[in-house]
Amino acid sequence: MTSKSSLDARLLERLLSDVRFVSRLVVSDSVGSTNDELRRLANEGAEEGTVVIAAAQTAGRGRMGRHWHSPPGRGLYLSVLLHPREPLSQVTRWTLAAAVAACRACRELSGCPVAIEWPNDLAIGERKLAGVLAEVRSAAGRIELVLGIGFNVLQRAEDFPTELSERSTSLYIASGRTNLGRERLAALYLSELGRTAGRMREGGWSAVAAEWCRLAPGAHGRRVRILAGTPKAPATPWDGVTRGIDDDGALLVERADGGTASIRMIDAVIPLEA
Ligand code: BTN
Repeated sequence: MTSKSSLDARLLERLLSDVRFVSRLVVSDSVGSTNDELRRLANEGAEEGTVVIAAAQTAGRGRMGRHWHSPPGRGLYLSVLLHPREPLSQVTRWTLAAAVAACRACRELSGCPVAIEWPNDLAIGERKLAGVLAEVRSAAGRIELVLGIGFNVLQRAEDFPTELSERSTSLYIASGRTNLGRERLAALYLSELGRTAGRMREGGWSAVAAEWCRLAPGAHGRRVRILAGTPKAPATPWDGVTRGIDDDGALLVERADGGTASIRMIDAVIPLEA
């Protein structure tokens, strides 16, 4: 399979022409990190709905300070600028909304049984397909959210570094299809995200939360181990059973004593069974 290392900016513009959610589109062959590039544009006054899309990243970042492998020609890396109206405690809702939009877009493009894994990874079976990095700050009296996502689209097994190959997949590996346009995936994701954002803004968080639970089979009834605290002050690990998500977008986990705890994104949730 051959793949172009650039993205077709004209095609992207055409596919996104009726997606009103996108106010400005910046397409690059390669950037350090689309999140960093978008933050730079935000500092220069970029509007909500500005999107940076790249065909490669030289310094792609993942959650928990990890590196995000972003080789040219195979993956899709993009970030969207948002100004959530919710209080800071509810900004997590947007990262779950991004996972819903991404899951629906990947399913539509590939036909693969893509699922959400807490909090906002996409997976096929046990292997990771995509991840979301949300970075939030307060700027000029409002919340500024840079919502970045990286998709594995056309990677072959040998394209992943050894340390990732056992637990990663791509839409190509899972579907065997070579006609998986990264531009089309970007357009599907952004139009789904725009639709989801519209729902959230009309007060429809509970519908988005229900959709997240429907697409995340581990969100209800899965036995998990919770590792909370910090590396310097870890809390005692405990086991429980998942019970959906709460109003702030935290994962609800029932303890053995029948009480329920809200688990934040920074806590580790280890599945104890498939
Ligand atoms: C994760 O750890 O699962 C999150 C990975 C997020 C990667 C994306 S790629 C586009 C955006 N720019 C970055 O530097 N990171 C995010």
